Parts: sequence; C-alpha cells; structure tokens
Amino acid sequence: MRVILLGTAAGGGFPQWNCWCPTCRAARSDPRSALPRSQSSVAVSADGAHWFLLNASPDVRDQVQQLNGHAPDGYRHVPIEGVVLTDAELDHSLGLVLLREGRKLRVYATEAVENMLTADSRLLSVARAFADVRVTRLQVGQTTPLTLRDGGDAGLTIEPLVVAADPPRFAARNEAGHTVGLIITESATGTRCAYLPGCGAIDDALLARLAGSAMILFDGTFWSNDELIRLGIGERTALQLDHLPMSGSEGSLGRLGALPVKHRVYVHINNTNPVLLEGSAERRAVEAAGLTVGMDGMRFDL
Ligand code: MLT
Ligand code: MN
Ligand code: ZN
Repeated sequence: MRVILLGTAAGGGFPQWNCWCPTCRAARSDPRSALPRSQSSVAVSADGAHWFLLNASPDVRDQVQQLNGHAPDGYRHVPIEGVVLTDAELDHSLGLVLLREGRKLRVYATEAVENMLTADSRLLSVARAFADVRVTRLQVGQTTPLTLRDGGDAGLTIEPLVVAADPPRFAARNEAGHTVGLIITESATGTRCAYLPGCGAIDDALLARLAGSAMILFDGTFWSNDELIRLGIGERTALQLDHLPMSGSEGSLGRLGALPVKHRVYVHINNTNPVLLEGSAERRAVEAAGLTVGMDGMRFDL
C-alpha cells in the first residue's frame, strides 16, 4: 500500500492566516525553522496509480497535483478514484465542493457523516448540484471495499472505528458514527494502515486494534492539554476539543510510543503545537519515542 501525506496541519493550516502565536511567527520569519503545512488529508493507493483521498481539505486543489502521473490522452482527467471521510468537520470536507468539476465523485462515509454533510453543512447537497456524487455507506464493524471509477476493485478495504469525539460545532444532530477513524487494508497482502486524525482518547481496546498495523497516522493536534488557554487564544482544553494531547501521562506519545508499529506518524497538527518547530524539545521528544511529526509530501510504501 502506498501512502502520501498530502496535508499534515489541522484546520487553518500552518501558519494560520490570522495567527501570530510563536510557531506561526517562526513559520513566517524563518520557514526553515517551522515548515509550512497544508490542511489535513492523506492519499492511499494499492498500486501507486489509483488514489483515494482520506478526507477532502480546503487545500485539495494544490494537494491533488501530487497525484498526477504522466499526462493523460484526453482533455479531462480526475486523478482520484474517490474520497473516504472520517467526519464532517470543515477542514475534512470543504474540499468536496472544490472537487465538483470532477463530474462524478464517489464518497465513502458513515450514515451520520452523510446526514451532516447533506442537511447541516449542506456541502454534499451543494456538490450534488454540480456533480454526480455517490455515497457508499461505511458501517462500524464492517469492512467495505473501495471501487475504482471504472467499477473495478481497488484492492483496498475500509473499516471505520469509533473514536472519542463530539459532533462538529455546526451539527444539528448527534448520531452514532459521526466521527470515526479508519483501518485501511490492502486486500492482496493484509497490510493495514490506521488513520485517526481526530481522536479524544486511546483506551486499551483501541490500542489493541492499532497494534497490528504497519502504519498509524494519529491526531497530532496539540502538544499539551492547556495549549490554547496558556497562549490566550482559546478557552477550551485539548480534551474538551476532542483531541488527545501528545504529552502527559495519558497522552498519545506515551500510549503510541509503547506500540511495536514501524510507522507512527502525527497528522492534523495544530499551528500552535511546538512539535512544528524543527529542533524543539517537543520535536525531539516525539522522535525519541520512535514517532514522526508528519510533513506534507511524505511518502510511505507499506
Ligand atoms: C477539529 O479538528 O477540532 C475541527 O476541525 C475544528 C475546526 O473546525 O477547525
Ligand atoms: Mn480538524
Ligand atoms: Zn499560530
């Protein structure tokens, strides 16, 4: 399975347009000390030619350029086979309307996510005014094969995992499955990649599910629980925002650091997180635990 990290920042990207926190300042004054990042999205493929997006970010237009191989014969070519969604958060779904020129778009989502995108944010309804958008329902506890645009089997399956989270702020409903992680499995080899860009807790059951993966892409939003409060730019803790912080006795670094998984990579990194600073103590702590701070354009062959 091939994996490309298209965007590794959380909503707002890095640096964030209106933010002058220490890390955003560094990204502007010395971009080599804090590399800019686009918003949360990943591409996966079984063959390195047919790609699926995991979430569709507001930066999708630039991000899909990385998936264009050699020039196509015709005048139109859509370089993605479909979009798999973990939730209906804006940073993960605004790209759906930006892909409307694709004419045909296959989306994989739980019923709860489909409902929020149809009736609450209406992004799916808007996209449908321009394109034939087909939603294949994902169900917790079930494995769904991914299908190519030509109807063939993509060689990958998806299983959604329930994660600790509240529905998005704009949601008018709170249905089970509103926020999930994904286990992507390559059918031919059984190789697995776990993708959890938003996750408020890691219990033993989740840890056991993650253990057999070749790769874990995990919520790297915040370093500390009181990060936004200490900077004076937010009132809520990381946990209140449903993002398990990296540090602390219950933090993701300790939990994932103990897992014998080759590739453990943080994605969805908020602009305030000091791991974004090259050479920071927090960056060194992540690397000392055997994890990687994700960067746009990173490619993995699992
Ligand atoms: C999140 O990751 O918590 C959400 O995407 C917040 C947001 O809307 O930016
Ligand atoms: Mn987000
Ligand atoms: Zn900032």
